Amino acid sequence: MSQPRILIVDDDPLVADSLGVFLKSRGYHVEVQTDAHRAVRELKSGTSVDLLLTDVNMPGMDGFALLREARKIDPSLVVVMLTGYGTIESAVNAMREGAEDYVTKPVIDEEMLMTVERALKRRSLTQENEQLRSQLNRSLKLDNLVGSDHRMRKIYETLATVAATRATVLISGESGTGKSLIARAIHHHSPRKDKPFVEVNCGALPESLLESELFGHRKGAFTGAETDRLGKFLRADGGTIFLDEIATASPAFQVKLLRILQERRFERVGDDESVEVDVRVVLASNIDLKQAVADGVFREDLYHRINVVNIHIPPLRERPGDIPLLADHFLKRYTRENEKVVEGISDDAMAKLSAFQWSGNVRELENAIERGVVLTRGTILEPEDFPADISGVEATVNGPGFEFRSDGRTIVPLKQALEGPEREIIEATLSSVNWNRQRAAKLLDINRTTLFNKMRKYDLLDIKRGGKRRERPA
Ligand SMILES: Nc1ncnc2c1ncn2[C@@H]1O[C@H](COP(=O)(O)OP(=O)(O)OP(=O)(O)O)[C@@H](O)[C@H]1O
Ligand SMILES: [Mg+2]
Repeated sequence: MSQPRILIVDDDPLVADSLGVFLKSRGYHVEVQTDAHRAVRELKSGTSVDLLLTDVNMPGMDGFALLREARKIDPSLVVVMLTGYGTIESAVNAMREGAEDYVTKPVIDEEMLMTVERALKRRSLTQENEQLRSQLNRSLKLDNLVGSDHRMRKIYETLATVAATRATVLISGESGTGKSLIARAIHHHSPRKDKPFVEVNCGALPESLLESELFGHRKGAFTGAETDRLGKFLRADGGTIFLDEIATASPAFQVKLLRILQERRFERVGDDESVEVDVRVVLASNIDLKQAVADGVFREDLYHRINVVNIHIPPLRERPGDIPLLADHFLKRYTRENEKVVEGISDDAMAKLSAFQWSGNVRELENAIERGVVLTRGTILEPEDFPADISGVEATVNGPGFEFRSDGRTIVPLKQALEGPEREIIEATLSSVNWNRQRAAKLLDINRTTLFNKMRKYDLLDIKRGGKRRERPA
């Protein structure tokens, strides 16, 4: 960047000049004005200014009025306010009016310098974001997202636009419609793509663990807290946090989340000091949050906070035109993955797939295709390669996953065949380490998320230490 230009406005010429001399000595290009009206005229005349540094209390036009006028002329102008010592209220007002920051008088040189540098850095980041956004709009490359339904196209457009910003995004849609996929796409098309994408399933964590899992804790905060723990929010710093199944979040967690979204800061368990995070928050829900608000289980204020940008994914049955595209996409993926030669789907089978109601949405279609690819002995998928409820063909399926073929062989999909032993191994390992997931994951040489997902799949989450099942409320 060329030398940044700063416009200083203070009715006290002593303050204005000394600030001017100081910032000039630090390499900035500086203009000084002691009258706000003149400053406005200068901005109007087209003098390019990167940062406006203005006093609040000035006779005639005050700092707030100047801020508003200046923003009208150049909406991207960064404004820093100088406030009298102890007038924290006007500082808060300044931020509310859109000032980037404020400095209290008497001004300390180093503080001034830091504030100016920080404000300018933020401005250049915003400009980068804007460039990126227009690039994305030009070449909308969302390769792993399939579907050309007009509502899906709208979603891709929204996605490309919001990805470049830090706006909170709420993704809604039935189970299996692609909410997690969209959340990841937002991250990967954002300027944060090289920073972490951290997923949290809000419904899966017991209340007692949720807080330290998300916000971290200080060593010794509670029994068992042997070391400092960062927590997911800090691990996502600079990147994106994806809060899945947000409707199931407990009331206590909802309060915390509201605060983070408002202030971008929080306290770790056992720590009085609050920490600041720079995270982009993406949330998903497969139940209608508005209804959850009406039912009194979801905070209304939080709902408004998170419903900044809403992406609603329509169920698959409402966009049957996408079914053949998705079916082909999955056919290619699973023939590659299973090293099978299956060249296509017969017209008859495709008609059946298109007519089916897909209550499990894209996930169900994906599973059907995977299963068809794995089980078929032909090179084209026919209706009978799909479950009876889809194909209408008399069931050849005898018990889940077992298929008795006409040649008398019983074929079990490999995945399913391995599920039994997998569950046993996981349960045995967990039990051997007293259900300590971290240790179990280490022993099994898988990461904790994978372990967690498998525990969920095999219904092992509710098992208490000692191997007894916890009573589930009816
Ligand atoms: N438009 C799409 N193009 C390609 N694949 C898709 C599309 N939508 C969904 N999928 C695939 O379908 C499966 C289910 O999608 P995903 O897990 O994102 O759904 P979800 O809405 O998050 O479901 P849940 O509510 O159960 O969490 C995934 O394997 C995903 O890759
Ligand atoms: Mg999901």
